[in-house]
Amino acid sequence: MASLLIRGGRILDPSQNMDRVADLLIEDGRVTAIGDTIDAQRAEQSIDARGLLVTPGLVDMHVHLREPGREDAETIKSGTRAAVAGGVTSVVPMANTTPVIDSQSGVNHILQISQRDGVARVHPIAAVTMGQKGEEICEFGDLYNSGAVAFSDDGKAIMNAEIMRRALQYVSMFNVPILTHAEDCDLAAGGHIHEGHVATLTGLKGIPSCAEAIQIARDIELTDFTHAKLHVQHVSSQYSVQLLRAGKNRKEKADITAEVSPHHLVLTEQACLHFDTYAKMSPPLRAEADRQSLVEALKDGTIEIIATDHAPHTQIEKDLPFIDAPNGVIGMETAFPVIYTKLIAPGTVPLDTVIRAMTFAPAQRLQLDGIGTLAPGSHGDVALFDLETEKTVDPKKFHSKAVNCPFNGWNLKGWPVYTVVGGQLVYDHGTIVPDAS
Ligand code: DOR
Ligand code: ZN
Repeated sequence: MASLLIRGGRILDPSQNMDRVADLLIEDGRVTAIGDTIDAQRAEQSIDARGLLVTPGLVDMHVHLREPGREDAETIKSGTRAAVAGGVTSVVPMANTTPVIDSQSGVNHILQISQRDGVARVHPIAAVTMGQKGEEICEFGDLYNSGAVAFSDDGKAIMNAEIMRRALQYVSMFNVPILTHAEDCDLAAGGHIHEGHVATLTGLKGIPSCAEAIQIARDIELTDFTHAKLHVQHVSSQYSVQLLRAGKNRKEKADITAEVSPHHLVLTEQACLHFDTYAKMSPPLRAEADRQSLVEALKDGTIEIIATDHAPHTQIEKDLPFIDAPNGVIGMETAFPVIYTKLIAPGTVPLDTVIRAMTFAPAQRLQLDGIGTLAPGSHGDVALFDLETEKTVDPKKFHSKAVNCPFNGWNLKGWPVYTVVGGQLVYDHGTIVPDAS
């Protein structure tokens, strides 16, 4: 029986309200015991976790793996390697590949390649509309039965309210949410950064905050009306936070969750002042007041999930002039260190709030059983972090194929040192363990 003992770490597992120094035993891919001292003889392999933070493997419910179609930017292999290098053991790839994942064969393809090449678990998302054109709703039943865990047209907004209403009605049959990239395309048209101070200084056309807020307001109404589940992706603005807070406080509470990305939590429009394409993304980085309201929303539970929106692009594309470069930044390999150093270590956001938002909260939202938790019987996915050692972000060392990282050169603490998937050590101090996939 394969077994792994993780000895003497600080185990932080919000799913069990657990924060204690203990040993953790995984046998045959399942957590079997947590205790003060577990007999080392019981395990084939052990990790000395003294001085390390031990958490459930991170669950990133917003990732772009680019396979099929743009394997030059990322593959399931390179993307899942980047994942485990960031302590992420469950990856949820978006459907905006080429072709779009809108058929059973598309979902099967992702699952098959993941089985062959993946070092992390992959839980695919399927599109809401055929080809993500916003016109014709996909066969959710077929897609769900093939293994899609939820539905999203991420990368594009669903502009037609009637289509959104029907999609919410249909998805409620499967008890999973629609994930929305909320953006009014007419308001956002032609914009490159947040419509604010830096847009004025640079002369770049802006995208107003209301482009996001208007769709969130619409979708809260539609979710209330249809009694469906909605998850709002990459929230970026203060107005959106206010709408979410009000929506959740209604008497008949609509079943709405939301996510925020590490970059929206720590960066603002200022990062675009010198036309750095690595700070260009959709939705855009906004003003300091927006950033602060996102941090508050994470603290008070209005936003319950942190997801990276890891969006790899080739260097050739990101070297284009700002207005021509594609939107997106990579994020899995720096997510926890960025948040740890900028928000947890200074005391702005509690550690357990962040760990919950990166483990149990997304796993629960997508109903991933035995994931995002270290409870006995769960899947044996674990991340171990060193909270002391400071290292400088160097994208050349990333396992992702892409380097479009806005944190290049930042000095950070909180780096993952070991990652375990299903009781198997897959990442060890910078290296993917050979034969891990
Ligand atoms: O910045 C972004 N990049 N936002 C999205 O919604 C899509 C993503 C991508 O696919 O590159
Ligand atoms: Zn998006």
